[in-house]
Amino acid sequence: MKLRSSFVFIVAFAALAFAGSVAIKAQTPMAPAKYKDIQQLKDVPADQIDVTMQYFAASLGWTCLNCHVRDQATGVFAYEKNDKKEKVSARGMIEMVRTVNAGDFGAKINCATCHQGHNDPLGLQPAQPYTEAQLAAMAAQAAAQAARQGGAGAGGARPGGPPQGAQPGGRGGTPPPPPPVEPIIEKFITAMGGQAALDRLQSRITTGTVVNRANQSMAFTIEEKAGKFHIVVNDPRATIAWGFDGKSGWGQAGPVIADVDGFRLQQAMRLNDLRRASDFNTRYTNLQAGRPTRLPARTPGGTPINVSLVQGDLPNDVQERLYFDATSGLLLRRQVISHTALNGALVETIDYSDYKDVAGVQVPFTIKLNNWNTLDTYTVVDVKTGAQIDDAQFVKPSVK
Ligand code: HEC
Ligand code: HEC
Repeated sequence: MKLRSSFVFIVAFAALAFAGSVAIKAQTPMAPAKYKDIQQLKDVPADQIDVTMQYFAASLGWTCLNCHVRDQATGVFAYEKNDKKEKVSARGMIEMVRTVNAGDFGAKINCATCHQGHNDPLGLQPAQPYTEAQLAAMAAQAAAQAARQGGAGAGGARPGGPPQGAQPGGRGGTPPPPPPVEPIIEKFITAMGGQAALDRLQSRITTGTVVNRANQSMAFTIEEKAGKFHIVVNDPRATIAWGFDGKSGWGQAGPVIADVDGFRLQQAMRLNDLRRASDFNTRYTNLQAGRPTRLPARTPGGTPINVSLVQGDLPNDVQERLYFDATSGLLLRRQVISHTALNGALVETIDYSDYKDVAGVQVPFTIKLNNWNTLDTYTVVDVKTGAQIDDAQFVKPSVK
């Protein structure tokens, strides 16, 4: 139990130690060029190692420390060391998975196929990693549903393909094409307060409390200003912070400060919402709408919510699916799908609710962030729109 409550903390430290180890950009993109002892994942791009490792951890319900060691004195991870038998076993498992997937067995597997997040000696709650196959099945199910409703959407064989039923064609009649994207985004902008109000929104300080899955409550502060981002969470063990000054990212866990980039930086900035509505078309590429769908009721016994669905791509082989309330136009859910090596994908869900008007712009006062190792509920207490924020706040603190 003690370990569980330390989990976020360990993850933050692991992320920083990890970031430190990859701060030097390698010339070649493959893993062996960047890391010290890659024996199995030699053909995996270097920048996919981190998300793949997170996938391993999620699949087993483990933390990085189940397979890796760190220096007790400095807290710095030595990921290349092979001291833990679990890391050695995992290499065998990787080989097995790759052998099956390369073979002619008609089956594609991943760690989660067998482990399902339940190999759980630390008492962590089961994670929810999805395999590509599970996501494809979900997409196929949605497509079949769409087909029953009057068209045979082919669905996406791979999540991150067109959203459910977005591909017209298939047998059994001509499906109605998915609606165009623009009206959904325009409705969102209007619902948020309109383009003019959003254009005036150049900075914001949001404060409140975040409750994690161990039911610990901590104060948080988010500062945002024209593409710059800074979040501080007052974890009782040490302050956790992430920042982005417009050019480079960094993270801090107590005295440990390190550069953060790539997928980890994207993760650190999941709540960077200041300009989401106004910069929608530039933030995402390959925007497509899916057929309207539904989200489950938010309260027991409530009615399911009709939603419009838009999907867009982000760097690092990440897609987001955005669910907009069909009535109000507001963003209710973002689903972040990160593809990993070895035929697996990780899904993060961010739910927005309790919208309130602050200086003419709608702000969600409850944000739930849910992924394989996190269940954080952010409750906003105060929002200062147009606050003066010193640029220094976004810059990596120097080591004292
Ligand atoms: C189930 C065991 C397992 C877990 C959990 C795990 N790893 Fe790994 N990790 C491995 C294995 C195995 C390798 C070596 C892969 C190879 O030989 O191709 C590795 C290699 C690495 C490397 C490359 C080290 C080098 O220089 O050679 C890094 C960095 C890394 N892991 C980070 C992480 C992080 C961060 C986490 C937590 C998010 C994590 N790992 C969780 C098994 C694991
Ligand atoms: C086909 C099913 C299957 C798949 C797929 C699979 N595993 Fe396993 N794994 C097992 C079984 C069964 C065991 C237990 C073996 C034993 O008890 O000796 C195991 C054991 C392990 C162990 C050792 C656990 C311990 O407590 O020592 C690690 C680590 C591990 N698997 C990691 C992985 C990783 C990482 C992947 C994906 C690359 C993976 N496994 C994919 C079935 C699977």
